[in-house]
Amino acid sequence: MDFPFQIRSYEAYEVAYKKSVAEPEQFWNDIAEQFLWRKKWDKVLEWNFKQPDIKWFLNGKLNITENCLDRHLAALSDQPAIMWEPNGITEANRVITYGELHSKVRQFAHVLRNNGVKKGDRICIYMGMIPELTIAMLACARVGAIHSVIFGGFSAQSISDRLQDANAEFIITCDGAYRGAKDIPLKDTIDDALVNCPFVKCVIVYQRTNTPVSMIKGRDVWWSDEVAKVAAQDDPEFIAEEMDSEDPLFILYTSGSTGKPKGVVHTTGGYMVYTTYSFVNVFQYKPGDIHFCTADIGWITGHTYILYAVLCSGGTSLMYEGLPTWPDAGRLWDIVDKYKANILYTAPTAIRSLMAYGTAPFEGKSLDSLKVIGTVGEPINEEAWHWYDEHVGKKRCPIVDTWFQTETAGILLSNLGGVTPSKPGYATLPLPGIQPVLVDEQGKEITGNDVSGNLCIRFPWPSILRTTYGDHERCRLNYFSSYDDMYFTGDGCYRDEHGFYRITGRVDDVLNVSGHRIGTAEVENAINMHTGVLESAVVGYPHDVKGLGIYAYVIMEKMPEDEAITRADIIQTVTRIIGPIARPDKIQFVKGLPKTRSGKIMRRILRKIAEGETGNVGDTSTLLDPAVVEDIKGGKL
Ligand code: WTA
Repeated sequence: MDFPFQIRSYEAYEVAYKKSVAEPEQFWNDIAEQFLWRKKWDKVLEWNFKQPDIKWFLNGKLNITENCLDRHLAALSDQPAIMWEPNGITEANRVITYGELHSKVRQFAHVLRNNGVKKGDRICIYMGMIPELTIAMLACARVGAIHSVIFGGFSAQSISDRLQDANAEFIITCDGAYRGAKDIPLKDTIDDALVNCPFVKCVIVYQRTNTPVSMIKGRDVWWSDEVAKVAAQDDPEFIAEEMDSEDPLFILYTSGSTGKPKGVVHTTGGYMVYTTYSFVNVFQYKPGDIHFCTADIGWITGHTYILYAVLCSGGTSLMYEGLPTWPDAGRLWDIVDKYKANILYTAPTAIRSLMAYGTAPFEGKSLDSLKVIGTVGEPINEEAWHWYDEHVGKKRCPIVDTWFQTETAGILLSNLGGVTPSKPGYATLPLPGIQPVLVDEQGKEITGNDVSGNLCIRFPWPSILRTTYGDHERCRLNYFSSYDDMYFTGDGCYRDEHGFYRITGRVDDVLNVSGHRIGTAEVENAINMHTGVLESAVVGYPHDVKGLGIYAYVIMEKMPEDEAITRADIIQTVTRIIGPIARPDKIQFVKGLPKTRSGKIMRRILRKIAEGETGNVGDTSTLLDPAVVEDIKGGKL
């Protein structure tokens, strides 16, 4: 694939940016023409942010997997599409070429159709980080089914909520998954989730860990058996479904400020065009580069920058099953050297956890293959940035600090590796097509430089979310109602004297814990389900490795006799209701919470106390009972 849209100089960036604002339709039209469409679009864009109603490449027809796979077959059939490093260091790795991936995806697409999957059906995928996960996703896209991938750290209850919300009748899972020293029982968790989901018709199970699992007749089938059935009748003419540009490609659930996760919906054409554009430009991808993204595919970073954007660019995606610190803290560096990775894309939380091991894990590692290194998911502190620059990039590799969200699908703010300048802690500049605006609480635009405000985007880009599944009004309320005619990101942001952007963190009730988004209301709801709990309030506090830790203030009907046991019990309940990723780090039992006369919890005060403030916590005069503040300050953990 050629990338005539790759920006190779600062001047070219400025030209592209200006054009993208002055003539956005022409700009995206020219980029979209570089892809494989079965039928060209009639119109580039129709939009309003009021409802919202956003459509890109109207009436264009395509199948994204033909862009990921078929179009590369002539030139890249023998090139690796996926290189996979297993969790265990003694297990053999796997390399899957474009030719092989194409045939495996076609086969599994056939399996899906044989099992009754039709265009538009929702399929839940709950698997570990193995190549079959990418095959499952691409096969869904091939037959036009909408995948909803659920991260392995979510509990049965969370899965069941998501299955019900999407009315997903099909599931693809594994017996278990390996992560570090653990063997995680995926199918068991699915079985628990299905107790409340009798509408699920079919569960396809891939054997990874050979853990014993229950298989229910008429519902559960083995991946290998189903593939064997179609292998005999493999039909090269097996046709990929023709999708409209605006047909949904996937749903990805994410936390918001209300208690219930939202199913963010992305559609086909715009997602493909924007995310590929962002990949090629931010990472300055060159044909033959090996791209190593350490995210889990269960998050948007993995969807876009392990799978779709990399394959649409004809790249080689290096996928790792395990943990960065297992069996030791040199594992990522071993992997980079073993595969000669050229791009490394990871999260500040991983960088901070590796920093704690010092420089010994780098001994004997060269890391010479690296060209560009990236971070994503949370603000990166300067210390971590410099450590990454010095020890991983060896001061040779530009660091791209990439800001985006599940809702944006692709990177919106970032320097372009080696092409536009970087600045520690700054996502720096918008990509072409992205028009950021800072606004104050009243919605008034804040102009000029050296200013802070809430970050909004003024104009649609092709991979903006289209709706939240089954509840369009929720999408409007969450993202398009705070400020007129703007998409509101939920992030606070500073624009420096050069016009560079620095994300300062969420301004809503969403916590970013180890780069995972967790709604405080979700955690509170889970804690409140614990027996004896009257009320709770959850806030974030600075955490050395995780960025933010979860701090819960809990009122019990009566103070627990053994606080340690009750704390552990509450953590157990949260793990059951949401999953291990939402476990509170600290729980403080309190008699009351600081509330205004209208009953609103003053989180500002709770955050101060959680940060360790024992003195002034700000104005408490509007509180119903200011005495509770002293009481909480005097409390212990
Ligand atoms: C945060 C992850 C600072 C931000 C891709 C955003 C960041 C939320 C950065 C989205 C960054 C992401 N610098 N903060 N480079 N990247 N964030 O949906 O608060 O899991 O709103 O998508 O992560 O999290 P999500």
